[in-house]
Amino acid sequence: MQILDGKALSEKITNQVSKEVKQLKEKSITPGLAVMLVGNDPASHAYVSMKAKACKKTGIYSIVHEMPEDISQEKILETISMMNKNPNINGILVQLPLPSHIDEEAVLGAIDPVKDVDGFHPCNVGKLVLGMDCFAPCTPLGVMKLLQEYQIDPKGLDACVVGASNIVGKPMMNLILNQFATVDICHIHTKDLKAHTSRADLLIVGVGKINLITADMVKDGAIVIDIGINRNSEGKLVGDVDFEHVKDKCSFITPVPGGVGPMTIAMLMQNTLKAAREEV
Ligand code: GUN
Repeated sequence: MQILDGKALSEKITNQVSKEVKQLKEKSITPGLAVMLVGNDPASHAYVSMKAKACKKTGIYSIVHEMPEDISQEKILETISMMNKNPNINGILVQLPLPSHIDEEAVLGAIDPVKDVDGFHPCNVGKLVLGMDCFAPCTPLGVMKLLQEYQIDPKGLDACVVGASNIVGKPMMNLILNQFATVDICHIHTKDLKAHTSRADLLIVGVGKINLITADMVKDGAIVIDIGINRNSEGKLVGDVDFEHVKDKCSFITPVPGGVGPMTIAMLMQNTLKAAREEV
């Protein structure tokens, strides 16, 4: 069994981004990222602070628009419109989830697709489905980078994606399908989860449920990617996979923490650089 070390790879990518940002700055271009953070969700605050820190480390200019929980949708849309027009801002990210009175679709759809570094705008989602160059969502893109680093080719593999969210499961499905994996996608209404997971050569799980995947659900020699981030009763960070019991059955597995998590932020830096270079 080999660990897929997302921490090490994310540092390698972040160092490369830093170098490329420096080169851009020599041409008087400073990549800029605007982050919108609405409300008081502690996890969102933690993620946004990690994203701002990564910007600082790579030399990317960043600004965080913090907004109260009860802000109007109009005000959010106004801020997005301002950032769409701001030439110093190349990337715009709205941290999710948004408060329930806000229409998430309307907010994400208001971001200029060329600044949509999270890849949530319908235009980028459509391009991803068609296999066109686009901004792909950072977490599944980070998984693809990890697979590539360890020379794991999804082509022809029986893959199973557990979780069908717009920000993880669906784009993940499309990215590996574009690389010619045969993909099952499971969700809350799947009748027999184990029937799907246990035949997967490549099992990718992003649900947010501790120990959802136990050893009996995993094929011998499978590649297991755990996107879940949960806190257990002892306050420790754990994924969706019962790592201790599953690891010995796998050929490769991602740890939590130190697997997919750090890759998400590295991909955000890379997407912001791509936006500054006007590559999409
Ligand atoms: N909330 C949970 N994951 C993400 C993410 O990747 N991007 C944004 N914007 N919000 C999130």
